[in-house]
Amino acid sequence: MKSKSPLKVVLAGGTGVIGASLISFFRARGADVKVLTRGTSAFAQGVEYIHWDARHAGPWFSAINGADLLINLVGKSVNCRYTEKAKVEIIDSRVNATLALGAAAIAAHHPPKCWINLASATIYADAREKVNGEDGEIGSGFSVEVCKIWESTFNEIPLPTTRKLVFRTAFFLSHEGGVFSELARFACLGMGGKWGPGDQRVSWIHEDDFCNMVLKAYEDEWVGTFNASSPHPLPLVDFFAAVRKHIGRHLHLNIPTALVHLGARLKGTEAELILKSRNVVPAEALKHGFEFKFTDIRHAVANLLPMHKRTPLNRLKFYFHTKRSSFLPFVSKLN
Ligand SMILES: NC(=O)c1ccc[n+]([C@@H]2O[C@H](COP(=O)([O-])OP(=O)(O)OC[C@H]3O[C@@H](n4cnc5c(N)ncnc54)[C@H](OP(=O)(O)O)[C@@H]3O)[C@@H](O)[C@H]2O)c1
Repeated sequence: MKSKSPLKVVLAGGTGVIGASLISFFRARGADVKVLTRGTSAFAQGVEYIHWDARHAGPWFSAINGADLLINLVGKSVNCRYTEKAKVEIIDSRVNATLALGAAAIAAHHPPKCWINLASATIYADAREKVNGEDGEIGSGFSVEVCKIWESTFNEIPLPTTRKLVFRTAFFLSHEGGVFSELARFACLGMGGKWGPGDQRVSWIHEDDFCNMVLKAYEDEWVGTFNASSPHPLPLVDFFAAVRKHIGRHLHLNIPTALVHLGARLKGTEAELILKSRNVVPAEALKHGFEFKFTDIRHAVANLLPMHKRTPLNRLKFYFHTKRSSFLPFVSKLN
């Protein structure tokens, strides 16, 4: 960190998967970290958790005043069925939190120096051969509409002294569960083959690269829209193959598109989350000189899941473990 006083970081919605990585990252660097949560206010492991309702003004406004870096991660998970009720909640949770943070920043005596609003790489059109940099073709459909409303709400907030950035984030691969543990679990079960066409591209980013990109964006004073993804999206079959190879699971059943739809319905989610081809590259981050630590999915998988003994028992333990949350305390026990 460049400044001598600790960096003041506020994570709105920092209690989720990405928040967990950012908390560890910034705490390890001595930052003063505050988290806005709908849960109760508390102080734990050096982090101040401050209650808010993610939509109205309140005492939490004071946390925004004087922040160096505000990161907004709030949003109802899209890993659900898109019922009319869920659609409203998916949009409202993002728009209301963004507007509330905007009101707090505008009211602040010292508005945040930098504000990164999360967004999603799903904003781009389904693409296989053509890669989408930040100027890529915007798609259509409900999830794209969510992204457009989320981004425009943020971009329209007038904050002349705050550097504003949109991070269009790809599948976030971390030790803390989320999408990586979901997919790894399927690979464990022998279902890590071809899902649907299988050539749909998976755009992904390792948690270390995401956190380093956030810090670099802050320190180097980036502004604008950035794809937070590794430079190498790959077909879903290759993604699964990398996980399978790593855990020593050779069985890989293929799942036709109709079954993916049925499975998603039974699981209470949307097939689009895995069937859409997200062929996204971080053109702007590369232009700004960002160097990725993980560009090869095999290295990312090996880092997130250091499973040295590829035994059926270890795979079983791993499977049940991923149904809970963090990999970290667990993986050392596998070896
Ligand atoms: N993980 C990914 O692969 C990925 C990829 C692209 C984009 N994103 C986006 O990045 C953001 C953070 O991702 P994440 O994986 O860390 O999400 P997450 O684990 O679902 O956490 C998001 C946080 O938002 C708050 N929240 C959830 N539902 C809410 C609601 N209805 N109203 C207000 N607040 C609500 C929760 O905090 P409290 O319960 O503490 O209030 C939750 O911890 C999300 O907006 C997500 O859509 C994630």
